[in-house]
Amino acid sequence: MADHNKKPGFFTHEKIETNNFLMIVLIILVVSVGGLVEIVPLFFQRSTTQAVEGLKPYTPLQLVGRDVYIREGCYNCHSQMVRPFRAETLRYGPYSTAGEFVYDHPFQWGSKRTGPDLHRVGGRYSDEWHRIHLINPRDLVPESNMPAYPWLDKTALDPQDAMPRMRALRRLGVPYSDEEIAKSPDELKGKTEMDAVIAYLQVLGTANK
Ligand code: HEC
Repeated sequence: MADHNKKPGFFTHEKIETNNFLMIVLIILVVSVGGLVEIVPLFFQRSTTQAVEGLKPYTPLQLVGRDVYIREGCYNCHSQMVRPFRAETLRYGPYSTAGEFVYDHPFQWGSKRTGPDLHRVGGRYSDEWHRIHLINPRDLVPESNMPAYPWLDKTALDPQDAMPRMRALRRLGVPYSDEEIAKSPDELKGKTEMDAVIAYLQVLGTANK
């Protein structure tokens, strides 16, 4: 028989579970230690902090396209990370590696996949395919439930748009030169948001193919 008169120690289950404050403090402690042990070593690993060979910073047009992608919420249905499983690599191509995302601030990995993963979509279709697909996905994939984005084709870019973004990214370590930043309006002149998104989609995942 258990000895019911024995005095309980300080950290008994009952004490922790009935004391909100203690419970919260202990949870924070456990989660932070667990988190730090997982995350901190990654900052010191070359493979997670160095760009893979052939990775280039986004051009001004691709960069503005990436922001349209984020603004339109494409990430709500599309992940950008091919997992290292056979089913994934057969469907999408080589699995994603950390060094492919060092210029992505913030990265678009995600896990929600109403639509397919897009990390290796670069070069898979023609620009024209993407244009028709984004104006009305049903024209190409009749059963698609992806929304249509016809306004992208009618919205002109402001050529000045890329400059402040490139400067901000440079602070985060993306190697843009002053000259590249100064010349960025030339690449955006006469282009639409559609051109920008397509330029962005076409470069995705192409560094490590
Ligand atoms: C409501 C969910 C949803 C949203 C939001 C969405 N998509 Fe999709 N997307 C899908 C689905 C489902 C498919 C698969 C059917 C198809 O090809 O239309 C798809 C397919 C695609 C494909 C073809 C991928 C392939 O490998 O065949 C591309 C490219 C794409 N989407 C880009 C975009 C972009 C860019 C945006 C934002 C402007 C976007 N999607 C927003 C659901 C979505």
